[in-house]
Amino acid sequence: MQILVTGGTGYIASHVAVELVENGHLPVLYDNLSNSKIEVAQAIAQICGKDIPFIKGDIRDRQQLTEAITTHNCDAVMHFAGLKAVGESVEQPLTYFDNNISGSICLLAAVRQTGINKLIFSSSATVYGDPQYLPLDESHPTSAVNPYGRSKLHIEELLADCCTSQPNLGVVCLRYFNPVGAHPSSLIGENPAGTPNNLMPYIAQTAAGWHKQVQVFGKDYDTTDGTGVRDYIHILDLVAGHTVALAWLADDRTGWHAVNLGTGRGYSVLDAIQAFSHASGKEIPHSFAPRRSGDVASCYASVDKAKAMLGWKARHDLAAMCQSAWQWQQKLDLAL
Ligand code: NAD
Ligand code: UFG
Repeated sequence: MQILVTGGTGYIASHVAVELVENGHLPVLYDNLSNSKIEVAQAIAQICGKDIPFIKGDIRDRQQLTEAITTHNCDAVMHFAGLKAVGESVEQPLTYFDNNISGSICLLAAVRQTGINKLIFSSSATVYGDPQYLPLDESHPTSAVNPYGRSKLHIEELLADCCTSQPNLGVVCLRYFNPVGAHPSSLIGENPAGTPNNLMPYIAQTAAGWHKQVQVFGKDYDTTDGTGVRDYIHILDLVAGHTVALAWLADDRTGWHAVNLGTGRGYSVLDAIQAFSHASGKEIPHSFAPRRSGDVASCYASVDKAKAMLGWKARHDLAAMCQSAWQWQQKLDLAL
């Protein structure tokens, strides 16, 4: 299949693009480069050993999207493009609603116009809000606690409405938990601009000496050691979830479906620091700081639906995630 990959040079989409090629598909990368670099498209081509089409474009440009889909005869869309920094979304909600929601509406119009009937959307565990029970299954009530989360929830709802109005449309919303790690080639990986907000890149940079210490946000949560618990998932497992979802849709599936992509296991901040220290052989200094506003104590997935529906489950453990993230961090160090 030819697949339009919005946000194609971003962290997650770049890894998915490689996997798509390995599975005999052709990704058409579409990105406005607001949070990624053109070099990523070249790195994907290098890993795959073939040219991969790249279009510099914005998802709010319906005409350019339509042209991209028709020129490349796309059969499906994977929709990764979006802004994702929670704190920034609180400061600039309209920017987030315009980019993420208006952009998705534009994309959906282009999808309808071109007759595409398969779409996979990058959703997030953030749509569950503060967990009412754990593990989080796909029937858990949804809510949003910040503009970023609201944008994800709105897009899921838009997609469900489009499925109702277009009976031949099939949509899978993949609700990611916390992705970690990089491609084994070390040619692509996560490269956050400025100081990372997320724990794992921050730990990796601290292990590399870029920061004095990790601040552990909160030590009095109702968890095993008092620190926040999350479901970290290896990027390669996350990627595999996309290819199985695409194969599932390609089997004439229609309607709207939400599926968690996590491991089903939660680790605390201190667990993550310890595992990373072990993987890197480095001391990771840390100290306790107040809770971060908006954080929940624990968040981990029920992965039963992914297994039953897609036959998918995560294979890599926390040690493998930390090794992968450390290998990538060393590559970033060399590039300094
Ligand atoms: P990323 O920032 O690396 O990738 C997003 C890409 O989209 C970037 O390359 C950016 O340039 C592009 N983009 C943004 N707005 C665009 C627009 N208007 N038009 C065209 N391109 C645009 O982020 P990522 O971590 O790879 O995340 C990919 C998707 O997964 C996002 O939708 C994100 O919300 C979602 N997600 C990510 C995580 C995570 O922890 N990384 C967790 C849950 C969900
Ligand atoms: N944390 C620290 N110190 C740090 C950074 C984080 O202690 O410097 C803690 C947080 O308090 C939390 C845990 O580490 O307990 C994980 O925090 P992250 O910022 O790495 O991840 P979140 O679970 O808060 O959020 C991420 C993405 C969201 C997405 C969510 C679910 O940032 O966009 O995963 O997919 F919605």
